[in-house]
Amino acid sequence: MTQSAIYSRVVGTGSYLPARRVTNQQLAEELATRGIETSDEWIVARTGIQARHFAAPDQTSSDMAVEAAKRALDMAGLNADQIDLIMVATSTPDFVFPSTACLVQTKLGITNGCAAFDIQAVCSGFAYAMATADNFIRSGAYRNVLVIGAETFSRILDFNDRTTCVLFGDGAGAVVLQASSEPGILSSALHADGSHSNILCVPGNVSGGAVQGEAFLYMDGQAVFKLAVKVLEKVAHEALEKAGLEASAIDWLIPHQANLRIMTSTARKLGAEEKMVVTVDQHGNTSAASIPLALDVAVRDGRIKAGQNVMIEGVGGGFTWGAVLFRM
Ligand code: ACO
Repeated sequence: MTQSAIYSRVVGTGSYLPARRVTNQQLAEELATRGIETSDEWIVARTGIQARHFAAPDQTSSDMAVEAAKRALDMAGLNADQIDLIMVATSTPDFVFPSTACLVQTKLGITNGCAAFDIQAVCSGFAYAMATADNFIRSGAYRNVLVIGAETFSRILDFNDRTTCVLFGDGAGAVVLQASSEPGILSSALHADGSHSNILCVPGNVSGGAVQGEAFLYMDGQAVFKLAVKVLEKVAHEALEKAGLEASAIDWLIPHQANLRIMTSTARKLGAEEKMVVTVDQHGNTSAASIPLALDVAVRDGRIKAGQNVMIEGVGGGFTWGAVLFRM
């Protein structure tokens, strides 16, 4: 007897943004009290960012992940205990260990003993997590997988460094992926090149009861920009080729929301400028959370409809990059 193919379908999306919204103007005023000069005009012109959200002092990545997950479960019509695997993509976990995914499991009240682990691929984390979840589902190992991106980048920003602190924000996004006989994820492609680890990093670790090295984000903006534009176009074509589709088959493009100039450049090369979902203007760069946040916005406002092809693309520290093409 031949077994029919198993696909991974997105059956629920959810997102969460912390209550504190900070506009460029408000951030510029706060930074001015430290003697740091920036402006709404500079930030908008170079990045497209107008505002970002910052977590409350006692709010963690797992707290935000849980809120996003509850909304995705609700849309999927599932109880938390029906989840077989939880994956959280984050570079700003609550602790060194246990994983944020384990904390999410218990905060959701899940007692079924489902597997839970974190994925660390910085801003490509959500693409990495989706591709990994897809493999677990297609192998028949799991039926319902909660894939989350959650970040509190505000905790690793140096607010004396205007070249980075204006770029990032906090938030979480989630999807429920479910085994189905209908597509589903069509293809994925993941890559990394560790030789570029120094252009975007938090080069510190915990040792002997203290942080050794730096606990703030460092970025060589121009090096990141050049590499990001190059690899994003390439990986998009790789995912399309694997699925046997042309770029014209993409209905919605959801790039990692880092910088409007990088996003537009990639979308233009794919002929998908009109099909790009943009939330970087209101969210800033939320690293692994940016793609599921944007996906949830476009699903809930009715832009993304059942049967349409969505391409997500991530690029980030590592250096890592990846794309996942799926049918809603
Ligand atoms: N406000 C005002 N002026 C600023 C600011 C600021 N916030 N930051 C830098 N400047 C100044 C610089 O000091 C410099 O001044 P100078 O000419 O007097 O020396 C001038 O602006 C230009 O600086 P550049 O660094 O050359 O500016 P650039 O055009 O490269 O833009 C930026 C900087 C926005 C960071 C750009 O390089 C970029 O977008 N890089 C990619 C960053 C990115 O997307 N990272 C995330 C991807 S991966 C991930 O998400 C983790």
